[in-house]
Amino acid sequence: MDKFVVRGGNPLLGTIKVSGAKNSALPCMAAAILTEDEVILENIPQVRDIETERKLLEAMGATCELGYGRAQHRTTIQCAVLSDPEAKYEIVKTMRASSLVLGPLVARTGMARVAVPGGCAIGGRPIDLHLKGLELMGANITQEHGYIEARTERLKGAHILFDKITVTGTEDLLMAAVLADGETVMENCAQEPEVTDLAAMLAGMGAQIQGAGSSTIRVQGVSKLHGVKHRINPDRIEAGTFLVAGAISGGDLNVDCCNPQHLAAVIAKLEECGVRLDVGKDSIRVRSEGKLKAADMATVEYPGFPTDMQAQFMALATQCEGTSVVTENIFENRFMHVSELSRMGANIKVDGRTATVRGKTPLQSAAVMCSDLRASASLVLAALIADGETILDRVYHIDRGYERIEEKLRGVGAQIRRMGEVFGKR
Ligand code: EPZ
Repeated sequence: MDKFVVRGGNPLLGTIKVSGAKNSALPCMAAAILTEDEVILENIPQVRDIETERKLLEAMGATCELGYGRAQHRTTIQCAVLSDPEAKYEIVKTMRASSLVLGPLVARTGMARVAVPGGCAIGGRPIDLHLKGLELMGANITQEHGYIEARTERLKGAHILFDKITVTGTEDLLMAAVLADGETVMENCAQEPEVTDLAAMLAGMGAQIQGAGSSTIRVQGVSKLHGVKHRINPDRIEAGTFLVAGAISGGDLNVDCCNPQHLAAVIAKLEECGVRLDVGKDSIRVRSEGKLKAADMATVEYPGFPTDMQAQFMALATQCEGTSVVTENIFENRFMHVSELSRMGANIKVDGRTATVRGKTPLQSAAVMCSDLRASASLVLAALIADGETILDRVYHIDRGYERIEEKLRGVGAQIRRMGEVFGKR
């Protein structure tokens, strides 16, 4: 298994580019199921989860060509015939977001079979709200032998009020509603930029959607959708991770090809810590001069502070003067990075969903274990400033959502290298 070796101490200097958003690319690739025409997606990140999504679509009978290295990271998908509308356990167990094919499959073919995604490192993560919404739209849902089966003649419009804000739940039911018979009104929806990005792609396919990006979305179902060419949003979480990298390393970093509007909560929190940020149209310059101040932070649904930046913020908080209280409101078990940061000398006490971080504490190199995508990112950030050489194990977690992060960081002066193969053979 690949490892990273990081020698800490170098301030990051220069320009680092942000790739397309994994959490936009996954629902947009699933949306290709809704039409038999060709769909072209640009700015698709070269990360492991995209490779998994390709396998998922191809197993159903689609063609999916990941055009890496070519201009625009173009991906071409065609779901002319879906011979096997099933998301198999072998794939779903490696990526929960596979459940995003449920809505589009039922809407397009009237039938879907999806392995129940088990829990994951950060929480139980049920999909009950996805199923509840599909039932309201008239689907008959059964569960057998670890698989959910959904069947219907044709989905019909419905009024859906989410008990809880769910990102992929909103996306899954949005994709179901665009081909349903009649109007669907969804309330208490997720407002994440990834939802808006998906809605923009669906509108390009001929869907009739109002209110994406707000808590109420209205969809007028249509009988057929056509192909589209769509450019995926930049990855706001990758951008946020690099902002913290610039701040924690005492560097002067220009984070380029991002959308600062999607990072308002992250920018505000970093400024509260005393980080200097110059915000441009599609780039942000980050500098930290001298002492960083402690600040409390609580994760909230968008436009609040993203849970996917919690671990990275915690790494920064270890270098802030004073006590920072970090509260995780979205997932019940998202402090896996704490024990590893503590191995590097951090002073963090966890009590349920709250972690109290005392700083500034000098970090030392150590052998650490990656446990999930964002926890891994926080360990890379800590290793960038730790005294000595840190070995990060199981970096396949970070490859799931960061495109060649070691090369990008090396490009701005980090001493980081990968031990082992880059990507498994196809
Ligand atoms: C999306 O996951 C993202 N993944 C996650 O990013 C992100 O952490 C999360 O949204 C929150 O922002 C993708 O977009 C592929 P939720 P999702 O449904 O949709 C509960 C990363 O690091 N819930 O919004 O699965 C759930 O357990 C990943 O890139 C139900 O109870 O998250 C959680 O506590 C990690 N029933 C809360 O809602 C449901 O049916 C929010 O989860 C659905 C969700």
